[in-house]
Amino acid sequence: MPKTTDKPKYLCVNGDESEPGSFKDRQVLEFNPHQLIEGTLITCYAIGAKVAYVYIRGEYHKWIKLFQTALDEAYASGFIGEKMKDTFKTDFSCEVYIHKGAGAYICGEESSLMNSIEGHRGYPRVKPPFPAQNGLWGCPTTINNVETIANVPKIIEKGWEWYSKIGEPKHPGTILFGVSGHINKPGVYELPTGTLLTDIIYKYAGGVPGDKKILCVIPGGSSMPPLRGDKLEGIKMDTESLKEAGSAIGTGGVIVMDEDTDLVKVLARISKFYYHESCGQCTPCREGTSWLVRILNRILDGNGSSHDLDMLIDVATNIEGNTICALGEAAAWPVRFMITRFRDYFEQRVSKEITLPVKNKVHSMRNTAFPLADIKD
Ligand SMILES: Cc1cc2nc3c(=O)[nH]c(=O)nc-3n(C[C@H](O)[C@H](O)[C@H](O)COP(=O)(O)O)c2cc1C
Ligand code: SF4
Repeated sequence: MPKTTDKPKYLCVNGDESEPGSFKDRQVLEFNPHQLIEGTLITCYAIGAKVAYVYIRGEYHKWIKLFQTALDEAYASGFIGEKMKDTFKTDFSCEVYIHKGAGAYICGEESSLMNSIEGHRGYPRVKPPFPAQNGLWGCPTTINNVETIANVPKIIEKGWEWYSKIGEPKHPGTILFGVSGHINKPGVYELPTGTLLTDIIYKYAGGVPGDKKILCVIPGGSSMPPLRGDKLEGIKMDTESLKEAGSAIGTGGVIVMDEDTDLVKVLARISKFYYHESCGQCTPCREGTSWLVRILNRILDGNGSSHDLDMLIDVATNIEGNTICALGEAAAWPVRFMITRFRDYFEQRVSKEITLPVKNKVHSMRNTAFPLADIKD
């Protein structure tokens, strides 16, 4: 953020949390709302912002209500707003507002989030300029995730040296891991970075129901490259280690799939999500995501071929790097990496060596009422 500017500065706290497999920000909003408020105020003080917007996913009615109650309490106690000056004997004051999303995943992308707050359609902006130079209403703006901001009070209280000693030196601290899928104890686990993925699954989250083998794990929300279940040994959960393992930490949402999972259906469902959530500005994302769903549907219908697998990788590769925002990569990575890493599985599916009952097709037509009921399981 520029140190000197005659423009107002803003903080946006990103609680849009719409990535499938991610459900940890809502834990902060529910159980530590005052920690998030404190982090928001300290961050505003540090960057010189007098207004903060906490952008919360529209479907999070319960958490919006809970967080509003906490904000009201903090205002009533003189911790936010003009009264701060008396309470803390300072010249600094700051307002904090909740801004509700309206059900669009793309509004979690930082520039789209700012357009949404400004009252425009949630289209991502071309960068540069970046928000720190040219953000909300053209003013310097910092955008950080709920979990990031909630970490601030403890770091200020105990010091950065304390924080940097937790977990992996290159990526210190803790992560809120949301564990879901075929798992005995799904939930959110706060653990140091560098915790073994297998420890998260077996030691903390109780392992896989029926002691089944793991076929696939997505380590950081549905857009991150999936990992093979037979190659999980030794993988640590931090930025560097996951990069080495061929994936990324993303949102820390660990999705576990057992050996009986229909990976074609999983991939079709993930692809349908990104297709549906594409804002449509860029041709590779708008058209490419639709083709991914159509080809995957063909395979689900039992009419796929080995050529379709190559075509899926080709379409995904042509989306990557050719779009305004990273939704392009979010749509492309699961497809490219799942097919590359599970080629044997997908080849067997298209050659019908593995046949699974095709119960639910994932529909691809835009502008038709999506028969969501068809894919509810
Ligand atoms: C399509 C898309 C959706 C995103 N959704 C979210 C979201 O729901 N929450 C979030 O914190 N960041 C989301 N991001 C990342 C934000 O753009 C931004 O990088 C993030 O809020 C920065 O927070 P951090 O650096 O504190 O992690 C999304 C990015 C993209 C491309
Ligand atoms: S990549 Fe997709 S979601 Fe992002 S701006 Fe382009 S069309 Fe919109």
